[in-house]
Amino acid sequence: MAASLKRAPLLGSLLKRRGSAPAALHQQQLLPTSSVSALQPKVEALACPFHSPHALSALPGPTKWPLVGSLFDILRKGGLKKQHETLADYHHKFGKIFRMKLGAFDSVHIGAPCLLEALYRKESTYPQRLEIKPWKAYRDYRDEGYGLLILEGKDWQRVRSAFQQKLMKPTEIVKLDSKINETANSLLWALYNISRNPHVQEKLLEEIQSVLGPGESPSAEHLKKMSYLKACLKESMRLTPSVPFTTRTLDKETVLGDYALPKGTVLMLNSHILGCSEENFSDWTQFKPERWLQKNINPFTHIPFGIGKRMCIGRRLAELQLHLALCWVVRKYQVIATDDKPVETLHSGLLIPNREIPVAFRIRSDTVKRKQ
Ligand code: HEM
Repeated sequence: MAASLKRAPLLGSLLKRRGSAPAALHQQQLLPTSSVSALQPKVEALACPFHSPHALSALPGPTKWPLVGSLFDILRKGGLKKQHETLADYHHKFGKIFRMKLGAFDSVHIGAPCLLEALYRKESTYPQRLEIKPWKAYRDYRDEGYGLLILEGKDWQRVRSAFQQKLMKPTEIVKLDSKINETANSLLWALYNISRNPHVQEKLLEEIQSVLGPGESPSAEHLKKMSYLKACLKESMRLTPSVPFTTRTLDKETVLGDYALPKGTVLMLNSHILGCSEENFSDWTQFKPERWLQKNINPFTHIPFGIGKRMCIGRRLAELQLHLALCWVVRKYQVIATDDKPVETLHSGLLIPNREIPVAFRIRSDTVKRKQ
């Protein structure tokens, strides 16, 4: 998730410049970038059951052994590569919110839309993610500016505003370091999911062919008419997200649900568990893009790009690339599953498949005919 400034000298120099950004840039930073951040403040938060708040120490969670906390339990359940599944188990056992210690690292885990909405509505001016000291040390060592991902406070806001300006100009986008890994990994999962669901692929192809004329290249205008394509990507990111969680460090005491969490608490916002919950998505194990065509899904149940002011700045770009790529592939090739054995997810920064994905591409006969 590192957004390097290496190839963006303008932004690098912005970083080094001290002082506040012009008001217009501040304003820009606050513009909504997603359905979640577009929610109006007046809309009532979906209430979590609320009583007078308990202290942090009252939070449930796995056994905290002296010094190691829950480290051995995590290792016993498959180690860090399977941490997303262990955390999902903990959520099933302890509920929407729990506390976990791993050695000295203490964190509170959130996996329910009502708590995410409450957090979003109490978001501070400069939300912080967990500080990753080695990244900072590495950048300091190389005398490079920090990326957006690790910047904080006014410096973060200034650079974020500048990035947002750049992202609005398509010609400038190429100059930004894009997050190829997240986007490529999401495409890979989407292809895997449609290979296992041929009926979905057929429906998707029908939509593409109804919007695009023969030989016509897909554009952003065409995509506006492809609601099923967008639903396919959403469904794939729900079932097989690339980034399973993000973090926040509270800069003030915050009440979430039944608990008053002190300043400095590290929150893990678990987007993976939101997607694999029967409460949020009926038949959650099934790949059903149709569910996204019904307009009644709570936006806080689907946060693959994060939430609020620190949400992924490349979201629109990534979605555009993914929609265009899917459109291009499905139109030209039949995406075929070459076996039906399970493919597991491993956590390695991103959620990746545990083996080469069993997918093959067969060129569609009408494409062949057109070439002749
Ligand atoms: C499918 C592709 C992608 C996924 C799933 C993804 C996901 C995420 C997530 C979950 C976060 C953390 C958000 C939060 O804490 O609330 C994030 C942050 C970020 N992403 Fe992405 N991302 C993707 C593509 C991109 C692309 C293409 C770019 C660059 C153009 C990008 C640039 C960033 C930056 C700079 C941040 C830090 C934003 C900040 O702290 O203000 N991402 N991304």
